[in-house]
Amino acid sequence: MSGKILIAYASRTGSTQDYAEEIGKTLIVAGFQVDVLPVDAEIDLTQYVAVLVGSAIRKSKWLPEAIDFLKNHRAELNRKPFAMFTVCITRAMSGDDEYQRVVKEWVEPMRALVNPLAEGIFPGRLDFSKLPFNLDTIQLRLAVALGIFPRQDRSDFAAARAWAEELVPRLKM
Ligand SMILES: Cc1cc2nc3c(=O)[nH]c(=O)nc-3n(C[C@H](O)[C@H](O)[C@H](O)COP(=O)(O)O)c2cc1C
Repeated sequence: MSGKILIAYASRTGSTQDYAEEIGKTLIVAGFQVDVLPVDAEIDLTQYVAVLVGSAIRKSKWLPEAIDFLKNHRAELNRKPFAMFTVCITRAMSGDDEYQRVVKEWVEPMRALVNPLAEGIFPGRLDFSKLPFNLDTIQLRLAVALGIFPRQDRSDFAAARAWAEELVPRLKM
């Protein structure tokens, strides 16, 4: 056993949670104990040797509860091995470096709060069955209809597992 790792996530329609769980399974196979919890759960950080935080993107930003988690625990997180991952639909847009550069910019404010060992950016999905019908989601539907965003689930759990495997040696303090 190599100690206990926290994977804290912020997710509104489940895809970031799915990534957190997949990453968690990889770390368990690597010999860690793992807790996968929403960022707004009651969490005692002192029991963890390392922390991973993941958030979905909405309107070019991490979800507010994930940003608050980093702000509230900044000092403690800067003392531990820390990594972060981001889930968004832009990552699913066909291999355009410009888009990927933009996503990295969205993550910049988080990087300024807590220095990560590694950053993952993974493609999500637009699950309209779980979203309300409002101006924001009408715009997203339009973007899908115009072929700007993919209709299909583009989750790439293999990429997340590979990312977690690379992280393993760096999580052992
Ligand atoms: C209201 C709304 C706004 C979004 N804004 C963005 C965005 O600015 N950029 C992006 O790449 N994806 C955006 N997305 C897509 C989400 O990041 C994507 O659906 C993600 O998989 C959702 O993760 P979750 O299921 O964990 O909530 C948005 C989704 C919604 C519903």
